Amino acid sequence: MSTATLDAAAVKADFPLLAREVHGTPIVYLDSGATSQKPRAVLDAMDRYYEEINANVHRGAYHIAERATTASEDARRSVARFIGATDEHEVVFTKNATEAVNLVAHAWGRSNLAEGDVVLVSLLEHHANIVPWHQLAAERGIEVRWIPTTDDGRLNLGALDHLLEGVRLVAVTAASNVTGDLPPVRRLADAAHSVGALCLVDASQYVPHRATDVADLGCDFLAFTGHKMCGPTGIGVLWGRRELLDAMPPFLGGGEMILDVRRDGFTPNEVPWRFEAGTPPIAEMIGLGAAVDYLEQLGMDAVAAHEVDLTAYALRTLGDRFDDDLVIHGPADTTDRGGTLSMCLGEIHAHDLSQVLDQHGVCVRAGHHCAKPLMRELGVTATARASLYLYNDESDVDALADALDEAARFFAF
Ligand code: ALA
Repeated sequence: MSTATLDAAAVKADFPLLAREVHGTPIVYLDSGATSQKPRAVLDAMDRYYEEINANVHRGAYHIAERATTASEDARRSVARFIGATDEHEVVFTKNATEAVNLVAHAWGRSNLAEGDVVLVSLLEHHANIVPWHQLAAERGIEVRWIPTTDDGRLNLGALDHLLEGVRLVAVTAASNVTGDLPPVRRLADAAHSVGALCLVDASQYVPHRATDVADLGCDFLAFTGHKMCGPTGIGVLWGRRELLDAMPPFLGGGEMILDVRRDGFTPNEVPWRFEAGTPPIAEMIGLGAAVDYLEQLGMDAVAAHEVDLTAYALRTLGDRFDDDLVIHGPADTTDRGGTLSMCLGEIHAHDLSQVLDQHGVCVRAGHHCAKPLMRELGVTATARASLYLYNDESDVDALADALDEAARFFAF
Protein backbone atom coordinates (compact mmCIF):
# COMPACT_ATOMS: atom_id res chain seq x y z
CA MET A 1 0.00 0.00 0.00
CA SER A 2 1.29 3.47 -0.87
CA THR A 3 2.22 5.78 1.97
CA ALA A 4 0.30 8.71 0.44
CA THR A 5 -2.13 10.20 2.93
CA LEU A 6 -5.26 12.17 2.40
CA ASP A 7 -5.58 15.78 3.44
CA ALA A 8 -9.16 15.44 4.65
CA ALA A 9 -9.74 19.19 5.02
CA ALA A 10 -8.52 19.87 1.49
CA VAL A 11 -10.65 17.04 0.13
CA LYS A 12 -13.74 18.35 1.92
CA ALA A 13 -13.17 21.77 0.39
CA ASP A 14 -13.41 20.21 -3.08
CA PHE A 15 -17.09 19.37 -2.50
CA PRO A 16 -19.32 22.46 -2.67
CA LEU A 17 -22.32 20.82 -1.01
CA LEU A 18 -20.33 20.01 2.12
CA ALA A 19 -19.96 23.73 2.81
CA ARG A 20 -23.68 24.25 3.27
CA GLU A 21 -25.82 24.28 6.37
CA VAL A 22 -29.12 22.53 7.09
CA HIS A 23 -31.43 23.44 9.98
CA GLY A 24 -28.93 26.18 10.84
CA THR A 25 -26.07 23.77 11.41
CA PRO A 26 -23.21 22.59 9.17
CA ILE A 27 -24.15 19.52 7.16
CA VAL A 28 -22.55 16.23 8.22
CA TYR A 29 -22.95 13.97 5.23
CA LEU A 30 -22.79 10.30 6.21
CA ASP A 31 -24.85 8.72 3.44
CA SER A 32 -22.28 8.06 0.74
CA GLY A 33 -23.40 4.44 0.54
CA ALA A 34 -26.59 5.82 -0.99
CA THR A 35 -24.86 8.41 -3.14
CA SER A 36 -21.61 10.32 -2.82
CA GLN A 37 -21.21 14.07 -3.06
CA LYS A 38 -19.60 15.47 -6.22
CA PRO A 39 -16.34 17.43 -6.34
CA ARG A 40 -16.11 20.72 -8.20
CA ALA A 41 -13.97 19.01 -10.88
CA VAL A 42 -16.88 16.73 -11.84
CA LEU A 43 -19.45 19.54 -11.82
CA ASP A 44 -17.15 21.68 -13.98
CA ALA A 45 -16.47 18.88 -16.47
CA MET A 46 -20.19 18.35 -17.00
CA ASP A 47 -20.85 22.09 -17.31
CA ARG A 48 -18.04 22.40 -19.84
CA TYR A 49 -19.55 19.65 -21.94
CA TYR A 50 -22.93 21.40 -22.07
CA GLU A 51 -21.46 24.87 -22.53
CA GLU A 52 -18.77 24.04 -25.11
CA ILE A 53 -19.25 20.74 -26.94
CA ASN A 54 -22.85 19.61 -26.45
CA ALA A 55 -23.63 17.35 -29.43
CA ASN A 56 -24.63 13.74 -29.91
CA VAL A 57 -21.87 11.14 -30.15
CA HIS A 58 -20.91 8.69 -32.93
CA ARG A 59 -23.18 10.54 -35.37
CA GLY A 60 -22.15 14.06 -36.46
CA ALA A 61 -19.00 14.79 -38.49
CA TYR A 62 -18.77 18.39 -37.28
CA HIS A 63 -16.25 19.79 -34.80
CA ILE A 64 -18.21 19.74 -31.54
CA ALA A 65 -19.75 16.33 -32.32
CA GLU A 66 -16.27 14.89 -32.79
CA ARG A 67 -15.11 16.55 -29.55
CA ALA A 68 -18.10 15.07 -27.69
CA THR A 69 -17.39 11.61 -29.12
CA THR A 70 -13.73 11.84 -28.16
CA ALA A 71 -14.51 13.10 -24.65
CA SER A 72 -17.03 10.33 -23.96
CA GLU A 73 -14.74 7.60 -25.32
CA ASP A 74 -11.83 9.08 -23.31
CA ALA A 75 -14.03 8.54 -20.25
CA ARG A 76 -14.40 4.88 -21.20
CA ARG A 77 -10.62 4.60 -21.34
CA SER A 78 -10.28 6.27 -17.93
CA VAL A 79 -12.78 3.87 -16.37
CA ALA A 80 -11.01 0.88 -17.92
CA ARG A 81 -7.66 2.08 -16.53
CA PHE A 82 -9.24 2.68 -13.10
CA ILE A 83 -10.35 -0.96 -12.77
CA GLY A 84 -7.28 -2.48 -14.41
CA ALA A 85 -9.03 -3.51 -17.63
CA THR A 86 -6.55 -3.75 -20.50
CA ASP A 87 -9.23 -3.47 -23.20
CA GLU A 88 -11.49 -0.42 -22.97
CA HIS A 89 -14.06 -2.22 -25.13
CA GLU A 90 -14.77 -4.37 -22.10
CA VAL A 91 -16.34 -1.33 -20.40
CA VAL A 92 -20.06 -1.02 -21.14
CA PHE A 93 -21.84 2.10 -19.93
CA THR A 94 -25.24 1.44 -18.36
CA LYS A 95 -27.70 3.54 -16.40
CA ASN A 96 -26.49 2.19 -13.04
CA ALA A 97 -25.24 -1.01 -11.41
CA THR A 98 -28.75 -2.41 -11.38
CA GLU A 99 -28.92 -2.16 -15.16
CA ALA A 100 -25.47 -3.74 -15.41
CA VAL A 101 -26.63 -6.82 -13.48
CA ASN A 102 -29.84 -6.95 -15.51
CA LEU A 103 -27.74 -6.79 -18.68
CA VAL A 104 -25.89 -9.94 -17.61
CA ALA A 105 -29.13 -11.67 -16.58
CA HIS A 106 -30.76 -10.86 -19.93
CA ALA A 107 -27.94 -11.14 -22.42
CA TRP A 108 -25.80 -13.86 -20.80
CA GLY A 109 -28.38 -15.53 -18.56
CA ARG A 110 -31.09 -16.00 -21.14
CA SER A 111 -28.57 -17.44 -23.63
CA ASN A 112 -26.77 -19.72 -21.21
CA LEU A 113 -29.04 -20.77 -18.37
CA ALA A 114 -31.75 -23.40 -18.49
CA GLU A 115 -34.08 -25.12 -16.05
CA GLY A 116 -32.19 -26.61 -13.12
CA ASP A 117 -29.10 -24.44 -13.52
CA VAL A 118 -28.05 -22.71 -10.32
CA VAL A 119 -27.14 -19.09 -9.69
CA LEU A 120 -25.37 -18.82 -6.34
CA VAL A 121 -25.90 -15.49 -4.59
CA SER A 122 -25.18 -14.50 -1.00
CA LEU A 123 -27.34 -13.25 1.82
CA LEU A 124 -25.34 -10.01 1.73
CA GLU A 125 -26.72 -9.03 -1.67
CA HIS A 126 -28.53 -5.84 -2.55
CA HIS A 127 -31.88 -6.42 -4.29
CA ALA A 128 -30.17 -5.41 -7.55
CA ASN A 129 -28.22 -8.68 -7.43
CA ILE A 130 -31.20 -10.77 -6.34
CA VAL A 131 -34.32 -9.76 -8.22
CA PRO A 132 -32.90 -10.25 -11.76
CA TRP A 133 -32.08 -13.85 -10.78
CA HIS A 134 -35.53 -14.37 -9.22
CA GLN A 135 -36.99 -13.12 -12.51
CA LEU A 136 -34.89 -15.63 -14.41
CA ALA A 137 -35.99 -18.34 -11.99
CA ALA A 138 -39.63 -17.53 -12.70
CA GLU A 139 -39.03 -17.43 -16.46
CA ARG A 140 -36.54 -20.27 -16.94
CA GLY A 141 -36.80 -22.43 -13.86
CA ILE A 142 -33.26 -21.80 -12.68
CA GLU A 143 -32.51 -22.21 -8.98
CA VAL A 144 -31.34 -19.26 -6.87
CA ARG A 145 -29.17 -20.62 -4.05
CA TRP A 146 -27.82 -18.70 -1.07
CA ILE A 147 -24.46 -18.45 0.66
CA PRO A 148 -25.34 -17.92 4.35
CA THR A 149 -23.87 -15.34 6.72
CA THR A 150 -22.22 -15.55 10.12
CA ASP A 151 -23.61 -13.81 13.21
CA ASP A 152 -21.32 -10.84 12.63
CA GLY A 153 -22.61 -10.29 9.11
CA ARG A 154 -19.80 -11.90 7.13
CA LEU A 155 -20.19 -14.61 4.51
CA ASN A 156 -20.16 -18.12 5.93
CA LEU A 157 -18.20 -20.11 3.37
CA GLY A 158 -18.00 -23.31 5.42
CA ALA A 159 -20.23 -25.24 3.02
CA LEU A 160 -19.03 -23.58 -0.17
CA ASP A 161 -17.98 -26.80 -1.93
CA HIS A 162 -21.40 -28.30 -1.37
CA LEU A 163 -23.18 -25.09 -2.39
CA LEU A 164 -21.32 -25.03 -5.71
CA GLU A 165 -22.98 -28.19 -7.04
CA GLY A 166 -24.75 -27.42 -10.33
CA VAL A 167 -23.77 -23.75 -10.19
CA ARG A 168 -23.34 -21.86 -13.49
CA LEU A 169 -22.90 -18.38 -12.02
CA VAL A 170 -21.68 -17.07 -8.67
CA ALA A 171 -23.12 -13.56 -8.25
CA VAL A 172 -21.75 -11.84 -5.15
CA THR A 173 -21.14 -8.44 -3.69
CA ALA A 174 -17.60 -7.19 -3.09
CA ALA A 175 -18.79 -5.02 -0.18
CA SER A 176 -22.04 -5.23 1.76
CA ASN A 177 -24.08 -2.03 1.78
CA VAL A 178 -25.41 -3.03 5.23
CA THR A 179 -22.66 -4.71 7.25
CA GLY A 180 -19.64 -3.32 5.42
CA ASP A 181 -18.23 -6.83 5.03
CA LEU A 182 -15.72 -7.25 2.20
CA PRO A 183 -16.14 -10.87 1.06
CA PRO A 184 -13.16 -12.77 -0.39
CA VAL A 185 -14.02 -12.18 -4.02
CA ARG A 186 -10.90 -13.86 -5.42
CA ARG A 187 -11.64 -17.03 -3.48
CA LEU A 188 -15.25 -17.02 -4.69
CA ALA A 189 -14.23 -16.40 -8.31
CA ASP A 190 -11.66 -19.22 -8.17
CA ALA A 191 -14.25 -21.51 -6.59
CA ALA A 192 -16.74 -20.64 -9.36
CA HIS A 193 -14.17 -21.39 -12.04
CA SER A 194 -13.23 -24.69 -10.40
CA VAL A 195 -16.72 -25.98 -11.21
CA GLY A 196 -16.88 -24.35 -14.66
CA ALA A 197 -19.08 -21.47 -13.49
CA LEU A 198 -18.64 -17.75 -14.06
CA CYS A 199 -18.41 -15.04 -11.40
CA LEU A 200 -20.28 -11.74 -11.42
CA VAL A 201 -19.27 -9.19 -8.78
CA ASP A 202 -21.49 -6.34 -7.62
CA ALA A 203 -18.79 -3.81 -6.78
CA SER A 204 -21.04 -0.78 -6.26
CA GLN A 205 -19.83 -0.33 -2.68
CA TYR A 206 -16.26 -1.42 -3.44
CA VAL A 207 -14.93 0.45 -6.49
CA PRO A 208 -15.48 3.88 -4.83
CA HIS A 209 -13.45 2.83 -1.79
CA ARG A 210 -10.67 0.43 -2.77
CA ALA A 211 -8.15 0.17 -5.58
CA THR A 212 -9.80 -2.25 -8.00
CA ASP A 213 -8.14 -4.55 -10.49
CA VAL A 214 -10.38 -6.96 -12.37
CA ALA A 215 -7.46 -9.31 -13.00
CA ASP A 216 -6.72 -9.51 -9.26
CA LEU A 217 -10.38 -10.04 -8.42
CA GLY A 218 -10.43 -12.85 -10.98
CA CYS A 219 -14.08 -12.29 -11.86
CA ASP A 220 -15.80 -12.44 -15.25
CA PHE A 221 -18.23 -9.55 -14.85
CA LEU A 222 -18.02 -6.48 -12.59
CA ALA A 223 -20.96 -4.13 -12.04
CA PHE A 224 -20.72 -0.74 -10.36
CA THR A 225 -22.22 2.71 -10.46
CA GLY A 226 -20.89 6.22 -11.00
CA HIS A 227 -22.85 8.18 -8.43
CA LYS A 228 -21.29 6.46 -5.42
CA MET A 229 -17.75 7.29 -6.61
CA CYS A 230 -17.98 11.07 -6.90
CA GLY A 231 -19.58 10.84 -10.34
CA PRO A 232 -23.07 11.79 -11.48
CA THR A 233 -26.25 9.73 -11.29
CA GLY A 234 -27.51 8.04 -14.46
CA ILE A 235 -24.28 6.24 -15.32
CA GLY A 236 -23.10 2.78 -14.34
CA VAL A 237 -20.62 0.29 -15.67
CA LEU A 238 -20.61 -3.33 -16.64
CA TRP A 239 -17.12 -4.67 -17.19
CA GLY A 240 -17.01 -8.12 -18.77
CA ARG A 241 -14.32 -10.34 -20.23
CA ARG A 242 -14.16 -9.59 -23.94
CA GLU A 243 -14.88 -13.09 -25.20
CA LEU A 244 -17.98 -13.28 -23.01
CA LEU A 245 -19.29 -9.89 -24.16
CA ASP A 246 -18.54 -10.75 -27.80
CA ALA A 247 -20.68 -13.88 -27.51
CA MET A 248 -23.61 -12.13 -25.85
CA PRO A 249 -26.65 -10.89 -27.81
CA PRO A 250 -27.81 -7.27 -27.36
CA PHE A 251 -29.84 -6.29 -24.31
CA LEU A 252 -31.94 -3.32 -25.51
CA GLY A 253 -32.67 -2.67 -29.19
CA GLY A 254 -32.57 0.65 -31.05
CA GLY A 255 -30.13 3.16 -32.46
CA GLU A 256 -26.36 2.85 -31.97
CA MET A 257 -26.43 -0.86 -31.08
CA ILE A 258 -26.55 -1.97 -34.74
CA LEU A 259 -24.17 -2.24 -37.70
CA ASP A 260 -27.07 -2.70 -40.12
CA VAL A 261 -30.85 -2.79 -40.09
CA ARG A 262 -32.81 -4.37 -42.94
CA ARG A 263 -36.45 -5.20 -43.57
CA ASP A 264 -35.69 -8.77 -42.49
CA GLY A 265 -33.56 -8.11 -39.44
CA PHE A 266 -30.49 -6.39 -38.04
CA THR A 267 -26.78 -6.95 -37.46
CA PRO A 268 -25.64 -6.01 -33.94
CA ASN A 269 -22.83 -3.54 -33.41
CA GLU A 270 -19.46 -4.43 -31.94
CA VAL A 271 -18.86 -4.53 -28.20
CA PRO A 272 -19.40 -2.34 -26.17
CA TRP A 273 -21.78 -0.23 -28.30
CA ARG A 274 -23.93 -3.33 -28.92
CA PHE A 275 -25.11 -2.91 -25.34
CA GLU A 276 -25.57 0.88 -25.43
CA ALA A 277 -28.81 1.39 -27.35
CA GLY A 278 -29.97 4.97 -27.98
CA THR A 279 -28.25 8.23 -27.15
CA PRO A 280 -25.97 7.45 -24.22
CA PRO A 281 -25.66 9.60 -21.06
CA ILE A 282 -22.88 11.71 -22.61
CA ALA A 283 -22.48 14.34 -19.90
CA GLU A 284 -22.57 11.58 -17.30
CA MET A 285 -19.85 9.59 -19.07
CA ILE A 286 -17.70 12.71 -19.08
CA GLY A 287 -18.58 13.38 -15.43
CA LEU A 288 -17.61 9.84 -14.48
CA GLY A 289 -14.33 10.23 -16.36
CA ALA A 290 -13.65 13.37 -14.30
CA ALA A 291 -14.54 11.50 -11.09
CA VAL A 292 -12.04 8.78 -11.98
CA ASP A 293 -9.36 11.42 -12.65
CA TYR A 294 -10.14 13.03 -9.31
CA LEU A 295 -9.88 9.75 -7.38
CA GLU A 296 -6.70 8.76 -9.21
CA GLN A 297 -5.13 12.08 -8.34
CA LEU A 298 -5.79 11.43 -4.64
CA GLY A 299 -4.72 7.81 -5.00
CA MET A 300 -7.07 4.97 -4.16
CA ASP A 301 -4.63 3.51 -1.65
CA ALA A 302 -4.72 6.81 0.24
CA VAL A 303 -8.53 6.86 0.03
CA ALA A 304 -8.72 3.30 1.39
CA ALA A 305 -6.21 3.98 4.18
CA HIS A 306 -8.12 7.10 5.25
CA GLU A 307 -11.39 5.18 5.37
CA VAL A 308 -9.92 2.26 7.32
CA ASP A 309 -8.52 4.68 9.94
CA LEU A 310 -11.79 6.60 10.14
CA THR A 311 -13.85 3.40 10.41
CA ALA A 312 -11.64 2.24 13.28
CA TYR A 313 -12.13 5.63 14.96
CA ALA A 314 -15.91 5.40 14.48
CA LEU A 315 -16.16 1.84 15.85
CA ARG A 316 -14.04 2.86 18.85
CA THR A 317 -15.81 6.14 19.54
CA LEU A 318 -19.33 4.79 19.19
CA GLY A 319 -18.48 1.63 21.12
CA ASP A 320 -16.98 3.65 24.02
CA ARG A 321 -19.83 6.16 24.09
CA PHE A 322 -22.82 3.81 23.88
CA ASP A 323 -21.56 0.38 24.90
CA ASP A 324 -24.34 -2.24 24.47
CA ASP A 325 -27.06 0.36 23.83
CA LEU A 326 -25.80 0.77 20.29
CA VAL A 327 -25.67 -2.25 18.02
CA ILE A 328 -23.51 -1.82 14.94
CA HIS A 329 -24.23 -4.72 12.64
CA GLY A 330 -21.29 -6.31 10.87
CA PRO A 331 -17.68 -7.06 11.73
CA ALA A 332 -16.45 -5.50 14.98
CA ASP A 333 -13.06 -4.43 13.61
CA THR A 334 -11.72 -3.14 10.32
CA THR A 335 -10.40 -6.48 9.05
CA ASP A 336 -12.01 -6.84 5.62
CA ARG A 337 -14.58 -4.26 6.59
CA GLY A 338 -15.61 -1.00 4.95
CA GLY A 339 -16.98 2.16 6.56
CA THR A 340 -20.65 1.19 6.45
CA LEU A 341 -22.14 1.32 9.93
CA SER A 342 -25.69 -0.01 10.27
CA MET A 343 -26.90 0.99 13.69
CA CYS A 344 -29.76 0.25 16.09
CA LEU A 345 -29.84 2.49 19.18
CA GLY A 346 -31.87 0.96 22.02
CA GLU A 347 -35.46 0.50 20.92
CA ILE A 348 -35.53 3.67 18.82
CA HIS A 349 -36.89 3.02 15.35
CA ALA A 350 -34.36 3.78 12.63
CA HIS A 351 -36.65 6.34 10.99
CA ASP A 352 -37.16 8.22 14.27
CA LEU A 353 -33.44 8.07 14.90
CA SER A 354 -32.57 9.45 11.48
CA GLN A 355 -35.05 12.30 11.96
CA VAL A 356 -33.37 13.36 15.20
CA LEU A 357 -29.95 13.08 13.55
CA ASP A 358 -31.22 15.24 10.70
CA GLN A 359 -32.11 17.99 13.19
CA HIS A 360 -28.37 18.08 13.96
CA GLY A 361 -27.42 18.19 10.31
CA VAL A 362 -26.40 14.52 10.25
CA CYS A 363 -27.51 12.67 7.11
CA VAL A 364 -27.85 8.88 7.36
CA ARG A 365 -30.03 6.39 5.53
CA ALA A 366 -32.79 4.62 7.48
CA GLY A 367 -34.62 1.51 6.34
CA HIS A 368 -33.94 -1.90 4.85
CA HIS A 369 -31.23 -0.65 2.48
CA CYS A 370 -32.64 -2.73 -0.40
CA ALA A 371 -31.23 -5.84 1.28
CA LYS A 372 -34.29 -7.49 2.83
CA PRO A 373 -32.99 -11.08 2.93
CA LEU A 374 -29.99 -9.86 4.94
CA MET A 375 -32.14 -7.72 7.24
CA ARG A 376 -34.28 -10.79 8.02
CA GLU A 377 -31.11 -12.72 8.79
CA LEU A 378 -29.96 -9.94 11.15
CA GLY A 379 -33.40 -9.98 12.80
CA VAL A 380 -34.17 -6.33 12.13
CA THR A 381 -36.59 -4.53 9.84
CA ALA A 382 -34.60 -1.30 9.65
CA THR A 383 -31.32 0.23 10.70
CA ALA A 384 -29.90 3.75 10.61
CA ARG A 385 -26.87 3.51 8.37
CA ALA A 386 -23.93 5.89 8.45
CA SER A 387 -21.55 5.36 5.54
CA LEU A 388 -18.15 7.03 5.45
CA TYR A 389 -16.25 8.32 2.44
CA LEU A 390 -13.07 10.13 1.55
CA TYR A 391 -14.35 13.60 2.58
CA ASN A 392 -15.40 12.52 6.07
CA ASP A 393 -13.18 13.07 9.08
CA GLU A 394 -13.20 12.56 12.83
CA SER A 395 -15.32 15.68 13.36
CA ASP A 396 -18.11 14.03 11.34
CA VAL A 397 -17.95 10.91 13.51
CA ASP A 398 -17.98 13.09 16.65
CA ALA A 399 -21.01 14.96 15.33
CA LEU A 400 -22.75 11.62 14.73
CA ALA A 401 -21.94 10.48 18.26
CA ASP A 402 -23.25 13.76 19.74
CA ALA A 403 -26.45 13.53 17.71
CA LEU A 404 -26.96 9.90 18.81
CA ASP A 405 -26.56 11.12 22.41
CA GLU A 406 -29.29 13.71 21.79
CA ALA A 407 -31.53 11.01 20.36
CA ALA A 408 -30.95 8.78 23.39
CA ARG A 409 -31.88 11.74 25.64
CA PHE A 410 -34.90 12.69 23.52
CA PHE A 411 -36.30 9.18 23.60
CA ALA A 412 -35.26 8.94 27.27
CA PHE A 413 -33.86 5.47 27.54
N1 ALA B 1 -27.85 1.06 -3.05
C1 ALA B 1 -27.81 2.29 -2.35
C2 ALA B 1 -27.73 2.09 -0.86
O1 ALA B 1 -27.36 1.08 -0.39
C3 ALA B 1 -28.88 3.20 -2.77
O2 ALA B 1 -28.07 2.98 -0.13
